[in-house]
Amino acid sequence: VIRVHVPLGDRAYDVVIGAGARGELAGVLPAAAEKVAVVTQEPVGVEVDAGREQRVFVVPDGEAAKTLSVVEDLCREFARFGLRRVDAVVGVGGGAVTDVAGFAAAVYMRGVPVVHVATTLVGQIDAAIGGKTGVDLPEGKNLVGAFWQPAAVICDTDTLDTLPPRQLRAGMGEMAKYAFLGVPDLTDLPIDEQVAACVRCKADVVASDERESGRRALLNYGHTLAHALETAGHYDLLHGEAVGIGLCFAARLARRLGRVDGTRVEQHERLVAGFDLPTRIPTGSAVADLVTLMARDKKVVHGLTFVLDGPAGIEVVPGVEAAPVAATLVEMGATL
Ligand SMILES: NC(=O)c1ccc[n+]([C@@H]2O[C@H](COP(=O)([O-])OP(=O)(O)OC[C@H]3O[C@@H](n4cnc5c(N)ncnc54)[C@H](O)[C@@H]3O)[C@@H](O)[C@H]2O)c1
Ligand SMILES: [Zn+2]
Repeated sequence: VIRVHVPLGDRAYDVVIGAGARGELAGVLPAAAEKVAVVTQEPVGVEVDAGREQRVFVVPDGEAAKTLSVVEDLCREFARFGLRRVDAVVGVGGGAVTDVAGFAAAVYMRGVPVVHVATTLVGQIDAAIGGKTGVDLPEGKNLVGAFWQPAAVICDTDTLDTLPPRQLRAGMGEMAKYAFLGVPDLTDLPIDEQVAACVRCKADVVASDERESGRRALLNYGHTLAHALETAGHYDLLHGEAVGIGLCFAARLARRLGRVDGTRVEQHERLVAGFDLPTRIPTGSAVADLVTLMARDKKVVHGLTFVLDGPAGIEVVPGVEAAPVAATLVEMGATL
């Protein structure tokens, strides 16, 4: 297995990556934990052995897991199980599971240790690492949450074998993001090396800015439109698919603002399309809806805020006017 350290002082931890890595679970759990609450979803189908008394709690599938009422259910079940502060929660699944399990762990008894066993590509290269946890509201994705670093993360690449092909492809959208954040071409490497390279990039950014007061916002490259598309919801886009479209949008908006040229836009579209992911906004998307949703993004300080490429590299750009944003959305297939 490959171990990547996330250096966060007294919250530092390791990410263990490789085929069969879930066999390391008992060893990475806090020694004092006697009971382990395993949170998962039915289609995940990945069994883990915590090496101590464990009980499995199944949450609704997909994004439906990420609600406050699921958090309440989990906390009540933890209490009935007799889970104490020294024990641990283990999230086994994709980002939806690790987000809600991590958030429940953050708030149950004001915080119990959590270990993530990430079983999707998005989970392994992004969601399980970095300590952002949370749930959605009808008003928007991830609007309620907490920073709660895991005690360890396990990325068992064997679990990707059962992942539906569309989910795996969507993970490539997230991988494309890392390419623009400086991770070199990964195409010819074994999957565990690909995952590890992305994890190292994320670990490095998170370690330099745990609470997102600066550099960490760069990890949101492509995500402003992605979150709006996901919240608008009726397009049925997966997170990674939405990120792919979001990357193309970010490049086109940057061009419209004179920050990059057409070659850079082509690089974005070629990479995303190369993974067989959409590069256009689904038909039927209304510009006004998307702009409203993007204005609600957590990064927003004033006006519309985006993470954009430019002469100085990728950076947070506040105060973008609505007009070029709308024009770029139309150029990509949204309707006025
Ligand atoms: N906290 C963060 O930093 C962060 C980062 C990126 C994404 N996210 C969140 O992650 C979520 C998306 O995560 P995702 O893309 O992993 O999707 P997901 O967690 O919804 O999982 C996708 C589907 O695959 C199933 N599944 C998971 N593992 C499987 C396996 N090994 N075999 C078969 N089926 C399996 C799930 O049950 C689900 O049906 C979003 O809610 C997003 O907001 C969070
Ligand atoms: Zn993402």
